[in-house]
Amino acid sequence: MRSLMSNTALIPDHETIARWYDGKDFSCDWTTANIPIWANILHEHRNRAVRVLEIGSWEGRSALFFLNYLPKAHVVCIDPFGGNAEHQLDEYFANQVPATEGRFDRNVVAPFGGRVEKIKGASGTVVPRLAIEARQFDIVYIDGSHFAADVYADAALIWPLVAPGGIVIFDDYNWDLMDTEQERPKLGVDAFLAGIAGQYRLVHSEYQLVIAKS
Ligand SMILES: C[S@@+](CC[C@H](N)C(=O)[O-])C[C@H]1O[C@@H](n2cnc3c(N)ncnc32)[C@H](O)[C@@H]1O
Repeated sequence: MRSLMSNTALIPDHETIARWYDGKDFSCDWTTANIPIWANILHEHRNRAVRVLEIGSWEGRSALFFLNYLPKAHVVCIDPFGGNAEHQLDEYFANQVPATEGRFDRNVVAPFGGRVEKIKGASGTVVPRLAIEARQFDIVYIDGSHFAADVYADAALIWPLVAPGGIVIFDDYNWDLMDTEQERPKLGVDAFLAGIAGQYRLVHSEYQLVIAKS
């Protein structure tokens, strides 16, 4: 298990984070707990025009982190806005799914339109189009479908698009909500990492797993 020594000086204070999200409309928060880790890993990019790719945006909370913490970043957000399989198992989340795209548009696209590229669709069809366009990314956040095979596919598709030194963050690496390993990200992440041995450096491994491309 590799965890970062957290440098609290790099972490935005509560008031700053609260301002980023003030007046916005969310059903839940899957982002804030990750901010100390992301800030420690990404602080060197704060003044750079980094290219960020996010697979799985929901209502835009994590995208708003990248847009605010990295003020020169351009962020591509891919989501079919149909929710995940696990959301259908929970009445509260199942009821939120139809509202996610509207919330994303109001929370993210309206205030940050020039720095955000919203692409509505599944990663399996959208990422190959980005590859054809020879797009490259410095930071990738994989938080779409949590099925192992889908996470593996997302990682394999984005890897050629990651610039040297680029960061890939896998959410929910140690998530255990679903019954079988095949329905959770870890198996897919581990299989992918085995396949790219020697091509990456492990940056962080706890609930999330983060690598840097060599
Ligand atoms: C856990 S939510 C993302 C949460 C968001 N990153 C945040 O922290 O606020 C997962 C999202 O992935 C999306 N999703 C599911 N399958 C996908 C796929 N194949 N490609 C892209 N997004 C997908 C769902 O529609 C859902 O909005």
